[in-house]
Amino acid sequence: MPTVPGQVESIKTMNKRTVLTGITTTGTPHLGNYVGAIKPAIISSHRAGVDSYYFLADLHALVKCHDPQVVQQSTLEIAATWLALGLDTDRATFYRQSDVPEINELTWILTCHTAKGLMNRAHAYKAAVQENLDAGEDPDFALSMGLFSYPVLMAADILMFNAHDVPVGRDQVQHLEMARDIAQRFNHRFGEHFVLPKAVIDNNVSVLPGQDGRKMSKSYNNTIPIWLPEKKLRKSIMRIMTNSLEPGEPKQIGDSALYAIYSAFANTRQREEMKAAFASGIAWGEAKQITFELVNQELEPARDRYMKLIEKPGQIEDVLQAGAKKARSYAQAFMQRLRHAIGIRPLS
Ligand code: TRP
Repeated sequence: MPTVPGQVESIKTMNKRTVLTGITTTGTPHLGNYVGAIKPAIISSHRAGVDSYYFLADLHALVKCHDPQVVQQSTLEIAATWLALGLDTDRATFYRQSDVPEINELTWILTCHTAKGLMNRAHAYKAAVQENLDAGEDPDFALSMGLFSYPVLMAADILMFNAHDVPVGRDQVQHLEMARDIAQRFNHRFGEHFVLPKAVIDNNVSVLPGQDGRKMSKSYNNTIPIWLPEKKLRKSIMRIMTNSLEPGEPKQIGDSALYAIYSAFANTRQREEMKAAFASGIAWGEAKQITFELVNQELEPARDRYMKLIEKPGQIEDVLQAGAKKARSYAQAFMQRLRHAIGIRPLS
């Protein structure tokens, strides 16, 4: 491990861009996660010239989830999902947040350089306060410091690895701005230690609607889990809400959740075919069957791998430990530089 501050940069290939994102480990992964985050991340993990970090944000999960069984099970399912779908763990660094204790140390250091006023403005925190006020409660009713400090932990996740690009959903853009703000303050005081990260919102990646047409989300209870067995997947797709147009009546693609889901899995030719079928009045049942077949065809090979993996948690644990080792070799060296910078130093 380098002991000279500054030497840490040579650990990373300097001209590579670093891409990093975290996945909160609450709940079972669904098609919205697959289309919006997992699939693009896995594709990008195979690209040369990027150094990618993907991690299971189990410390973030603790903010909302106090059931140990759910935290563990979700970590297992999400890890197995990424591996089954072909994440290249030789190229990408894939780890569990809590296995890298340096992130916690950095969180505290950053906490001491984060304006409380900045955190007061966080959307998630403000929404929780507003909900309390609307319910006639004390503004802080049932709010934890975890919820309040959430953006600092997220900043530590990102700044720890000097990520340039952070692919996230729109709801996370403010958190990225906060991470930049925190990094800037730190750099201003102690020198240029942190890269200023950028949120990357991919406009080509669709926000998938759920069965009821609203955004697919656990909180709306409208999700289609990725790893349903074939029959249940079919049933779940059959339940996607449509209108009462009869077979033979032309249908619009614009307001159709079914078309949006189909389209997220289709190639250009398939999309054109479905558009034409809508215009010429395909029956909803038939369009659903075709959608099921397309989705199932894409997931089937990975589903077998998933089922095998989930039975072998020890194997997944080994992969995560190897990832943590890689992540820590960078994090430990960088922490040493940061400690030195702020005056946490040996006395002689
Ligand atoms: N807060 C993110 C979400 O809910 C998850 C997350 C935690 C994250 N740490 C991160 C995303 C760091 C990007 C970078 O989606």
